[in-house]
Amino acid sequence: MAKLLSLLLLLFIIIITAEGTKSSYGVYEESNSVKLFVFGDSYADTGNYLSSASYQPPYGNTFPGKPSGRFSDGRIITDYVASFLKIESPAPYSLRNSSDLKYGINFAYGGTGVFDTLIDGPNMTTQIDTFEELIQQNLYTKTDLESSIALVSAAGNDYLKFLLENGNNTKDVGGLTTSMINQLSLNLRRIQSLGISKIAMELMAPMGCLPIVTELSSYEKCNDTVNMVAINHNQLLLQAVEQLKMEMGESIFFTLDLYNAFLSTIESMQKNHDGMNPLQPCCVEGIFCKSDVCDKPELTFFWDGLHPSQNGWYAVYQLVESSLPQLFEEKNR
Ligand SMILES: *[C@@H]1O[C@H](CO)[C@@H](O)[C@H](O)[C@H]1NC(C)=O
Ligand SMILES: *[C@@H]1O[C@H](CO)[C@@H](O)[C@H](O)[C@H]1NC(C)=O
Ligand SMILES: *[C@@H]1O[C@H](CO)[C@@H](O)[C@H](O)[C@H]1NC(C)=O
Ligand SMILES: *[C@@H]1O[C@H](CO)[C@@H](O)[C@H](O)[C@H]1NC(C)=O
Repeated sequence: MAKLLSLLLLLFIIIITAEGTKSSYGVYEESNSVKLFVFGDSYADTGNYLSSASYQPPYGNTFPGKPSGRFSDGRIITDYVASFLKIESPAPYSLRNSSDLKYGINFAYGGTGVFDTLIDGPNMTTQIDTFEELIQQNLYTKTDLESSIALVSAAGNDYLKFLLENGNNTKDVGGLTTSMINQLSLNLRRIQSLGISKIAMELMAPMGCLPIVTELSSYEKCNDTVNMVAINHNQLLLQAVEQLKMEMGESIFFTLDLYNAFLSTIESMQKNHDGMNPLQPCCVEGIFCKSDVCDKPELTFFWDGLHPSQNGWYAVYQLVESSLPQLFEEKNR
């Protein structure tokens, strides 16, 4: 009996440990052959930018308990989308030599944009080039790719660069929006032409609500002028995606509305929370967290000056999850 008990206890510990090291969240099926390929920036990066703040404490404090290259205290939307697909979060490309690539690859790289930005990382075109090279090396079969899903994030580093170079003036940003949408449309076409049959494109989040913007108003309210940039961007992006659907098929392209998911989460936290201001980030200094962090990241929406906390991402994910089932159900029919 004591033997049985200790065996049970051992099993229990093993299960807990396995749960603790999983990068996705929730049910996880070994037999699932779906793969997730991820392109974009820090809103999707789970560990490609090796020399960034995301690999320094206090990043990763909540999950996995130490820095892991995620720009948050814990899991981000990529991890939740992977869990939705019942797979582990795909390996970051930078860690490819030491990682299993059977769940796909995450090419997203913090700080990058559709075009070149202020950091020296691969823009989205280069990320897709790398994906193409791997396909040419037969790392994945045609069937692998057909049952795969791509997640694409262009969260706004191109705009941050523009604002920095233009004294925060949004007046002439329209030209950049037009060229970004044209380039994104080419990128989505290319991902499809490489054999991926389901592509989820994230709409831009309300940039005017980011702590680096709202700190000017002591985190009082979102900046409507800056949010207009995201609204215009999303309007054109939705039109571009409609065009792609018309040309290539309704069931290929999906959009995840981060704009409204961020806003409604922030609004409901403003209404419901006693004292916690969702516009105020967990860490107090600058764009990236250093040592000064809040006691309860699980009550915040933002982690640092640019990125949601795990709590924020989980709330956002729950709101966009309903845009995902079509991906999954159709795939498994
Ligand atoms: C992975 O291995 C390849 C081939 O051996 C090498 O060229 C590359 O630099 C390695 N990448 C990393 C991130 O270690
Ligand atoms: C992406 O980066 C590559 C390599 O630096 C560069 O040649 C290319 O022009 C860039 N593409 C875009 C769309 O900015
Ligand atoms: C632009 O905005 C940033 C962040 O809100 C601020 O730190 C910076 O001083 C502003 N730059 C100018 C030129 O106004
Ligand atoms: C909102 O952002 C615009 C553009 O950067 C800036 O000119 C304006 O002062 C900001 N408004 C507030 C209230 O911070």
